[in-house]
Amino acid sequence: MRVGFLQMRCKFGDVKKNVKRAVNLLSKVNNATVVLPELFNTGYLFKNKKELASLAESVPDGFTTKQIKKVAKKNNLNIVFGIAQKVKKEIYNTAVFVDSKGNIDSYRKIHLFDREKLLFNHGKVLKVKSTDEGKLGFMICFDWIFPEAARTLTLKGAQILCHPSNLVLPYGQKAMITRCIENRVFAITANRIGIERRGPVRIEFTGKSQIVSPEGEILVSVGDRSESLKVIEIDINRADNKNLNVNNNVIEDRFPSCYSVITNK
Ligand code: ACM
Repeated sequence: MRVGFLQMRCKFGDVKKNVKRAVNLLSKVNNATVVLPELFNTGYLFKNKKELASLAESVPDGFTTKQIKKVAKKNNLNIVFGIAQKVKKEIYNTAVFVDSKGNIDSYRKIHLFDREKLLFNHGKVLKVKSTDEGKLGFMICFDWIFPEAARTLTLKGAQILCHPSNLVLPYGQKAMITRCIENRVFAITANRIGIERRGPVRIEFTGKSQIVSPEGEILVSVGDRSESLKVIEIDINRADNKNLNVNNNVIEDRFPSCYSVITNK
């Protein structure tokens, strides 16, 4: 399976420019599953709900999804990308999946970070999508800090975690290595780079997009300064082997009855 990420710089509010840039870069690859950052088309620092609503789009008939669908079809790509999704009066921080045949699915971010809680509705379902190449589990940025999310996706059959991000804390990428080891899955983290300033608020995205193996090896990673498109070949079947050694299996060795406190809120 060929998998990759597009690490991008995004200009706040300039959806046309951000989408055009992504489509130009994606046009350089084919036959792969590629992950883009969270909210790649709008930027991140919305001043208020009104501004967010003015930039949110519907799925599947919004501008961004239509443009990404075209390049997916032309270059035989599966693409996962983050946008603000309008659903009637609600707005979600969503990862959209499109494939080369025009199939569309989406995941709405469950664990909202910081001011996102004031702006977005949160999602309610962790999703796994079966494709011809492999089973994709979706999570978005701050979902990384909840091991329950990656574990649930693994138990639902995910072989590779697709992780559009706008990471700002310095250890999200490192934590994803642990998520891979404890679940024996692959992960693609696609992050943003650059600084966004809106009024008094300034935020710096940490780049360092990466692809990690079920043994926690960093198969490819990039820096925090440049835009970068990377595609590599992986053997997705490695994610089906949950044995750590002859006596331990990270799924079969669990004792769910000891963990009920996690699900009893
Ligand atoms: C984040 O969840 N965007 C940090």
